[in-house]
Amino acid sequence: MGDRLLEMAREVMARAHAPYSGYRVGAALEAMDGRIFAGCNVENASSGLTICAERVAVGTAVAAGARVFRRVLIVTERGPAVAPCGACRQVLAEFGPALEVVSVGANDERRWSLAELLPEPFRLNGPRKGSE
Ligand code: THU
Repeated sequence: MGDRLLEMAREVMARAHAPYSGYRVGAALEAMDGRIFAGCNVENASSGLTICAERVAVGTAVAAGARVFRRVLIVTERGPAVAPCGACRQVLAEFGPALEVVSVGANDERRWSLAELLPEPFRLNGPRKGSE
């Protein structure tokens, strides 16, 4: 099942639109019901408009009706396993801090909980009850 996530993340990574950085990223987001949603980075000539693979995967999942997630696996085609950027952490946190984050690099793998990566996400009405 972890293998399936990696397979899907690698498959979508190949479709990344990354002509500016040349750095392709794939993400596979597993919903609690077992469905897996994939996303790749989509760069733009206006750099600030680039969307990371993780956020594309979240959008794909939400558009399909999935909102509760177990884990996200991120894969890059070269270099070490990367931690998701701050913006993606905040977007992932929208759907729960218990998410497991797995990152696979060319020769290594790292794991965190989302709460470890973003202990204090912004929330419109302050922290979740019971979270502090
Ligand atoms: N990128 C991702 O897709 N996910 C990350 O977690 C970090 C960075 C993308 C954005 C951009 O297209 C490229 O990697 C280089 O920053």
